[in-house]
Amino acid sequence: MSRVRVHNFSISLDGFGTGDGQSLEAPFGHAGQRLHAWMFATRFWDDAGTAGVDNAFAERHEPGIGAEIMGAGKFGPPGWQDDPEWRGWWGPNPPFHTPVYVLTHRPRPPLEMDGGTTFHFVAAEPVDALAVAREAADGQDIRIGGGATTLREFLAAGLVDHLHVVQVPIVLGRGVRLWDGLEALEEQYDVEAVSSPSGVTHLTFTR
Ligand SMILES: NC(=O)c1ccc[n+]([C@@H]2O[C@H](COP(=O)([O-])OP(=O)(O)OC[C@H]3O[C@@H](n4cnc5c(N)ncnc54)[C@H](OP(=O)(O)O)[C@@H]3O)[C@@H](O)[C@H]2O)c1
Repeated sequence: MSRVRVHNFSISLDGFGTGDGQSLEAPFGHAGQRLHAWMFATRFWDDAGTAGVDNAFAERHEPGIGAEIMGAGKFGPPGWQDDPEWRGWWGPNPPFHTPVYVLTHRPRPPLEMDGGTTFHFVAAEPVDALAVAREAADGQDIRIGGGATTLREFLAAGLVDHLHVVQVPIVLGRGVRLWDGLEALEEQYDVEAVSSPSGVTHLTFTR
């Protein structure tokens, strides 16, 4: 059976997956770019980037993925559901190149983009959304793309097979937490940690 994977999900030392005050101008709220600075420095993101530990983890994001599931908070800023023209942050050719299932209580018709990405909008429990995405992924794996609320729901439902979390040495103090309500989650997984010279720690939770 295909696996459910999470890659490059970045959290602060105090466990926040995004900052406070998300908006069109600040997609990560007061966290700014700090949660993903490690990734922007890699070759995965930028041809002139680094090719070390961070890159080795970052580039595992793509291979073998046949569909992504994301939350409404990743797809757009608060209130995008009121804008019929909103097509996501990523421009005409989004970097997914697969079907993407956007969880929202206010679904709309699918949006076909360039490059193989189609956004489907679904109001469904995680297990049901996963069944639909799995069908579309045609034997390949499904990536849970975040944000924190959505990832927490999938973890709480026991649906994630491989979780790659990147702990970034910043203290955000406020935002949306990943780990709340997931007490003893680690008992379900083999956990490994790899420290990078960049200062981040790559944690993998593998079933
Ligand atoms: N740290 C990282 O690596 C990372 C990765 C990806 C994104 N992010 C950031 O995380 C933030 C978004 O995270 P978030 O926690 O605020 O929001 P989110 O997880 O993206 O989305 C939560 C929203 O999705 C909808 N939803 C979730 N489960 C649903 C279900 N079962 N059925 C129907 N709708 C459901 C609801 O929206 P409705 O109100 O439409 O119902 C809910 O309010 C953004 O700032 C994004 O940039 C961070």
